[in-house]
Amino acid sequence: MYKKGEPITVLTAHDFPSGHVADAAGMEIVLVGDSLAMVAMGMEDTSEVLLEEMLLHCRSVARAAKTAFIIGDLPMGSYEIAPEQALESAIRVIKEGRVHGVKLEGGIEMASTIKKITTAGIPVLGHVGLTPQRQNSLGGFRVQGKTSASAMKVLEDALAVQEAGCFATVLEAVPAEVAALITNKLSIPTIGIGAGNGCSGQVLVQVDMTGNFPPGRFIPKFVKKYGDVWSESMRAIEAYKDETKSRAYPAPEHTYPIPKAELEAFER
Ligand code: KIV
Ligand code: NA
Repeated sequence: MYKKGEPITVLTAHDFPSGHVADAAGMEIVLVGDSLAMVAMGMEDTSEVLLEEMLLHCRSVARAAKTAFIIGDLPMGSYEIAPEQALESAIRVIKEGRVHGVKLEGGIEMASTIKKITTAGIPVLGHVGLTPQRQNSLGGFRVQGKTSASAMKVLEDALAVQEAGCFATVLEAVPAEVAALITNKLSIPTIGIGAGNGCSGQVLVQVDMTGNFPPGRFIPKFVKKYGDVWSESMRAIEAYKDETKSRAYPAPEHTYPIPKAELEAFER
């Protein structure tokens, strides 16, 4: 797809149903992102989620996704100590999480770590630009590459992860023009999120793009809400409640029959 100039479609999933629908809809890559910390576990940010927890979610998605290439995020704390630690975690994500490859955040400083994992035959998806696991040292969720110096830093990070063996890299929250220039300078695909349509593909968080969140919740500027799953779930659950209270549900067609003679004998 990259060679043909065809954009690559990537979507997150965090459990069996979300993995199933992403796969059935034809997503080429399904990412078990550590964003599941927030969207599936109700945590404040991604720093809290454990490798063990990622493994459980990866396994659930892997059971659902039959066609897509599946990537599991290495959570914060599972890969920064040393390349050996990162490889050990990556092997667990493959063997226990049952996915095809891993993603980790960081550029130049992560090159030797990426190399360690790719050398072992595990595909690695890079993640440069805004790296949410480092939000505290980046000063929050901030667009990266808004000055020529910081754009150069994003380019150098992208080149470093390419050199280290990543098969592609996520480019998060980077001005569209910068992301397009970086994409042109690389020989691996860029998967953009908040990085414009000049990337080699796009990734979104599934609950964001399907609108599976309550009204009023903050969503980043780059998210396009393609659906309103929250409203549809609310409508269905409220209707179920109303019909249960009024005894309209269950109707006769939702019940099991018993032969009349058996019922009469039972009643006696
Ligand atoms: O955790 C995640 O969902 C991600 C993608 C948004 C790139 O890292
Ligand atoms: Na992530």
